[in-house]
Amino acid sequence: MAKIAPSVLGADFAHLADEVSSAASVGADMLHLDIMDGHFVPNISFGPAVVEAISLETDLFLDVHLMLSQPEKHVEPFVKAGADAVTFHIEVHPHPVEYARKIKALGVRSGISLNPDTPVEAVLPYLADFDFLLVMSVFPGFGGQRFIDSVLPKITAARMAIDRSDLSTRILVDGGVDTGNASRVISAGADILVMGTAFFRAPDRAALVKMVHGLSR
Ligand code: DX5
Ligand code: ZN
Repeated sequence: MAKIAPSVLGADFAHLADEVSSAASVGADMLHLDIMDGHFVPNISFGPAVVEAISLETDLFLDVHLMLSQPEKHVEPFVKAGADAVTFHIEVHPHPVEYARKIKALGVRSGISLNPDTPVEAVLPYLADFDFLLVMSVFPGFGGQRFIDSVLPKITAARMAIDRSDLSTRILVDGGVDTGNASRVISAGADILVMGTAFFRAPDRAALVKMVHGLSR
């Protein structure tokens, strides 16, 4: 069964508590929280205070995606704020194992992400060290962008590497995922679909969750 992680970046920030409880009530599997520093990506989103506010509103698993040039400086505040998983980018730490261990030592899951123009070979040697592989299917920084089809072979290559070594690493795909491409993304090898715009602007959020849960490889 495929899973769905609504990305709060696509929510109505003026009604965040309602948006979060709506995601839980329609059966979303986790929440994806995008943290941007205006440096690694050309946008700024929100920080630990907002993550803490969300954490106090929900029991959903909180998947924190750090789009930061210096993620290691901020892991602890996000864990204290209620993150259940912390993901950073291979582009800032090409040798990421020590950071994975530091994240896990704080008692949360670890994730590694790669941009659309980073070859999948950059992360393959490290998959065993991470609970999550977050494959970016847009250049990070903004919600509402168009899915980049050329990342599909990267998802499949990662899937094959994970299965070959019998790892439990889960593949998330993030950026421009919607009802039109969800089944192709899962068929390519993803486990979890991150959806910002497609979830929060869906005419029927429960039906969308049901559709995703009905997908399988
Ligand atoms: C992009 C973020 C994504 C974004 C996805 O920088 O990492 O998580 O919120 O939003 P949509 O689903 O609208 O592309
Ligand atoms: Zn994200």
